[in-house]
Amino acid sequence: MDSIYRARWITTDMSPDDYSARMFQRTVKFNKKVIKAVFHVTALGLYEAYVNDKHVGKNFRFLPGWTHYTRRVQYQSFDVTNLIKKDEAILEVHVARGWFSGHISGECIRMPLALVCALDVVFQDGTKDFYISMANDSWKAAKTKVVFSDIYDGEIYDDRLELHDFQPVKIAHGYNPNDLVKHQGEYVKEQEILPALRLITSPKNERIIDFGQNLTGYVKFTVKGKKGQKFALSHAEILDNEGNFYTDNLRKAKQYVEYISNGRMSTYSPHFSFQGFRYIRLDEWPDNVKLEDVKAVVVHSDMKRTGYFESSNIFLNKLFANTIWSQKGNFLDVPTDCPQRDERLGWTGDAQVFAKAASYNFDVKKFFTKWLADLSLSQGANGAVPVVIPIRYSYTGVSSAWGDAATIIPFQMYLTYGDKKILESQYESMVSWVDYIKNSSDNPYIWNNGNHYGDWLALDVPFGTYKGKTDINLISTAYYANSVNILRKTSRILKKNQKVISYYEKLYSNIIKAFNETFWQNDKLLTDTQTAYVLALHFHLLYEDRINTAVLNLVRKLHEFNDKISTGFLGTPYILHVLADNGYAALAYQLLLEREYPSWIYPITKGATTIWEHWDNIKPDGTFWSKDMNSFNHYAYGAVVDFIYEKVAGIRIDETDPGFKNIIFKPIVLKECGLTYAKATIKTKNGDISAYWKIDGNKILYNFEVPKKSTASIYLSNSYNVGPGTYEYIEQL
Ligand code: BGC
Repeated sequence: MDSIYRARWITTDMSPDDYSARMFQRTVKFNKKVIKAVFHVTALGLYEAYVNDKHVGKNFRFLPGWTHYTRRVQYQSFDVTNLIKKDEAILEVHVARGWFSGHISGECIRMPLALVCALDVVFQDGTKDFYISMANDSWKAAKTKVVFSDIYDGEIYDDRLELHDFQPVKIAHGYNPNDLVKHQGEYVKEQEILPALRLITSPKNERIIDFGQNLTGYVKFTVKGKKGQKFALSHAEILDNEGNFYTDNLRKAKQYVEYISNGRMSTYSPHFSFQGFRYIRLDEWPDNVKLEDVKAVVVHSDMKRTGYFESSNIFLNKLFANTIWSQKGNFLDVPTDCPQRDERLGWTGDAQVFAKAASYNFDVKKFFTKWLADLSLSQGANGAVPVVIPIRYSYTGVSSAWGDAATIIPFQMYLTYGDKKILESQYESMVSWVDYIKNSSDNPYIWNNGNHYGDWLALDVPFGTYKGKTDINLISTAYYANSVNILRKTSRILKKNQKVISYYEKLYSNIIKAFNETFWQNDKLLTDTQTAYVLALHFHLLYEDRINTAVLNLVRKLHEFNDKISTGFLGTPYILHVLADNGYAALAYQLLLEREYPSWIYPITKGATTIWEHWDNIKPDGTFWSKDMNSFNHYAYGAVVDFIYEKVAGIRIDETDPGFKNIIFKPIVLKECGLTYAKATIKTKNGDISAYWKIDGNKILYNFEVPKKSTASIYLSNSYNVGPGTYEYIEQL
């Protein structure tokens, strides 16, 4: 066991309104030569650690990561052997509030920040020792140059401050060293640097820099000012209709950064805060702005990129690229709804709808394994899954389709990566979520109570309404059935005993029966909405003899809405799949490539570089949806890219042999689809999979690549079962 478990959590006196960072310091002297030194460290808050003035783990940002802090805190271990000089180690750790106790943690939390750490050393003579954080004279605390720090609000850094007014440290009572766990997730790192593209003077006479891309991270700048001179900037995603800097949609998040010069040339970027932005406004800055001195740093979890797509349609390619950017912008240690306004939270519903697309775009196995562990720990004793993970104390509600992240995400990770371990580790959590639904409803087969978000942001209700029209009980029961179905399959995959398997089989068929008896009346679903049919068909809930009618009803609902989508968060990820799976692929393509509002491509015609929260963040007349809920970087609708991989390019998972061990190639190529070629690649642990097709006159050329350890089933006019290799086919259009 690492010696950090013997250390104590320490803190220092701070008023609850003090948002400055604190440093904790200790000098360790050795009287023998050190041949190995490892520094284990973590904080309640965010930290940066230094040994003999050298920043350790410098490549990693926002340590120790965001977990359900009252249940577990990750710690990191750094080999610092090379930093020990003159038989001395000055250990110094700077800690800011971050996710733990900044505004993001919820209004009711004002816990003091705290540190726990330990230095393990091995001496040349083979003996060992350790030095741990504790509340005695060896440790002292002080203010730092970070005089204000908050994830939402930004940072103020006073580079003039040199002298440390040391204070004693004290034990942080209530914190338990047993909550420590070794780092589990992907590290967050600086990933890309974007140059400043242009300097704009707005009608309001603001000096604005445009980076050309909505992104998550921070600005890094090099300046030489006079001592005490301020360099201050604000961040925004968008300019308003007149071209002025627009921050109303950030709500209470200030996204403000200020650097106070010490008179020397310095390069600065915030230490403990990130922003969602494309534009910055220079609030205080000398007249001669040099664009080359100001850069945007893109920061996200270090997931390996796996998925690529291109086609003959530049709008579709841009939609794909925007989705990648929204994933980068919202996979910063946890999957968030948005990276800019005063939310940036691990909303379960958003993560659930996007998880499949996310798993094709990037390798997110480790990322979700960590987040799902926090989901399990956040569940109530009754199995309730809070709507945001890690839990935030003001968001303790439970909603269908949001809580179903507990079943949908582990199962998707199993399908994409073919590893049963995630099902094993999440099994109990999945079971307790289903138990929760069953026990909280008056009827064991229909989920008919509670407060739910429904088909969030659908367009089938009067403008300005958040919850779509689709009946809440219908949605809740549909997701209940889907979760039980997943659990039924998982129990079989994990070879649970027959009694367990039969229990879920029976529960599932009873829910299906109840769904058909309750929600199908006079050849329609109650309610008659696009999303109602999409969910019933996608989750295979309807009796066989009702499917055709339901498909026709869905098509009718689309025609009634001028052949456009009116679905919200829940109907949108599945609508194209349902159409394509039920004989309406041409209509699916028409919706996918539609440029007029509402459609996936409409935002691109308005200059979007990421996925928007609403279909109409910017309305056709150029005005904004509203200021209270208008994120320009919200990945949920980007879920459509799983259709692009699976149906447009044609790379699909074989559920009976997951992890792309057997690949299903089944592209949908139609003359009227409007595309002349498409190509996708997905990198897997077996190697690269690729699918390509091209329309050439009245012929279609296909090319498929099957990696070394995989097999494939190819479905064209004929079907073929093949092993590793490259396969080409030519068919008549
Ligand atoms: C978030 C959503 C989230 C929703 C719950 C919003 O404020 O931004 O994406 O899922 O609340 O309905």
